[in-house]
Amino acid sequence: MTDALGDTATFDRAARFYDWLAPTPDADELREALSFADREIERLLDVGGGTGRGASALGVRERIVADAAEGMARQARRNGLEAVRADAANLPFADESVDAVLVVDALHHFGDPERAVESAARVLRPGGLLVIRDIDPTSLVGRLVEGGEHLYGFDSRFFAPDDLGRLVADAGLDAKFRSQGFEYTVVGRKSKASQ
Ligand SMILES: C[S@@+](CC[C@H](N)C(=O)[O-])C[C@H]1O[C@@H](n2cnc3c(N)ncnc32)[C@H](O)[C@@H]1O
Repeated sequence: MTDALGDTATFDRAARFYDWLAPTPDADELREALSFADREIERLLDVGGGTGRGASALGVRERIVADAAEGMARQARRNGLEAVRADAANLPFADESVDAVLVVDALHHFGDPERAVESAARVLRPGGLLVIRDIDPTSLVGRLVEGGEHLYGFDSRFFAPDDLGRLVADAGLDAKFRSQGFEYTVVGRKSKASQ
């Protein structure tokens, strides 16, 4: 069920039903997180974006889904988005080519989340923003979700908010996080000094 890329086989199979089954991403929270960017967001990459529900909730001119499961990328295209099959740890995009990277409910499924954060930082333009939304494994609900996913057979690896904040800072981004019960958002802004 889990391969070197992460938990992709199940998502590949579930792609057609995913929009009915999965909880909708919090669009207000994503919009608020994106307001930390230090540039206009005209090109956004939704990594591990699945059917594109995160990207679809945002009024950004160019929205691209990158997902390792071809079924999910296909469904994102049916939903009207541009989508590529790609590993988050090795994004097929040029350095400094996007204004924002979104990772919603996906980082814990990636085979190599550390390299995924580095890859996201690489493709960001100066002033651009990485937004990661995930479940806090130190909360009660987070522990239950983690246990349930492992029982199901996923290889999920969840980060506590401050650990993920450090990872984002190690990738060279200015990191902040906000906890909301069992969920949290980490944002990492790329400095304009590198321009
Ligand atoms: C729980 S879904 C979340 C989808 C979407 N972000 C949402 O909120 O609806 C996790 C997604 O991560 C994708 N995924 C897993 N490993 C990946 C990897 N290494 N690179 C890119 N996507 C990956 C899966 O295929 C799946 O679509």
